[in-house]
Amino acid sequence: MNTDTNNPVRWGILSTASIASKIARAINLAHNAELVAIASRTEERANAWAKKQNVPIAYGTYDDLLSDASLDAIYIPLPPSMHAEWTIKAAENGKHVLCEKPLSADSDEATIMINACQQNGVQLMDGVMWVHHDRTEMMKKEIKNLGELRRVTAAFTFNWNTIPTDNIRAKPELGGGSLGDLGYYCVRAILWAYEEMPTKVFATARYKVGVDFNFAGILWFENDRIATFDCGFDTGLRKWFEVAGTKASLVCDDFTVPTSEESARFWIHGPGNVKHETGTCIQEVNMIERFSGIVQSNKLEPEWAEVAVNTMRVCDALRESAQQGRVVKL
Ligand SMILES: NC(=O)c1ccc[n+]([C@@H]2O[C@H](COP(=O)([O-])OP(=O)(O)OC[C@H]3O[C@@H](n4cnc5c(N)ncnc54)[C@H](OP(=O)(O)O)[C@@H]3O)[C@@H](O)[C@H]2O)c1
Repeated sequence: MNTDTNNPVRWGILSTASIASKIARAINLAHNAELVAIASRTEERANAWAKKQNVPIAYGTYDDLLSDASLDAIYIPLPPSMHAEWTIKAAENGKHVLCEKPLSADSDEATIMINACQQNGVQLMDGVMWVHHDRTEMMKKEIKNLGELRRVTAAFTFNWNTIPTDNIRAKPELGGGSLGDLGYYCVRAILWAYEEMPTKVFATARYKVGVDFNFAGILWFENDRIATFDCGFDTGLRKWFEVAGTKASLVCDDFTVPTSEESARFWIHGPGNVKHETGTCIQEVNMIERFSGIVQSNKLEPEWAEVAVNTMRVCDALRESAQQGRVVKL
């Protein structure tokens, strides 16, 4: 990982989203990054956030931040329906883009985003943090020892007792819904394990307030492999996956956000039960350092955008399947 501390990448954040505080901390902790500017739809909110987070520059519009020639990289934690518009604008302003998940409202938008970033010679990556954790590389090595892979199962849920109708996740016009918010992580885990796209999918969903409130999917792959997942806003916190092969299986019970920053765990179940643990690791710091390293090296890594678009393509097929009640081929 390139971590040039002498010439840190200068970051700006588009909006005072809840998740922006986590990334502000990560940028501050990263060896090769510096948080320079925040933008909000109102100057008051931008100023208040800048003061609280100790950020030097506050802009009262997103466009003003994108016009700041001193910025190298932009983090976009806007509602999903706004990701495409602001990624394209950022790219046209010559900024590298770390855009939150889901990458976009649909895969057509995602393709336009990729093209805009390519044409302007800037990096595009989605904000899936767990793939940057040290544990993920360890798990990838262990997957090779499971025998022939047969099944991946994943779940990501949390429970709303009362639907917060002002939350972006409950608003269809902002790209809400559990598939994009939570299922996106499960689909990414499945693609990560199998390193291939499914051939066909089937899904079912329950809808409330105009969004998919919970969602369950089946994905078929070549060579006798299958995957299933569920996600939703109506079940207590679950964030696990299992990758099962002919010899053994790997279980990670907190893949999206490890329970502790001091160590992260997973198990291999087979003839024995072996627990593996990492040392201290903050996955969002790894993500920022990796992204900043790409910017510093000036060697773009297109695979990050490609996997994000593939995740969107699978989500689109799953959504279509749930809406039409039939198997959808990819
Ligand atoms: N990677 C992760 O671990 C992770 C975790 C949580 C969320 N996320 C993703 O990050 C994004 C933001 O999620 P969040 O929970 O942080 O959202 P949030 O707190 O609701 O923030 C969204 C921000 O977008 C801006 N905005 C612009 N137009 C808006 C509109 N019409 N309605 C609402 N907000 C609008 C607002 O900022 P201003 O008022 O300052 O302009 C608002 O603070 C989503 O894509 C979500 O999926 C990722």
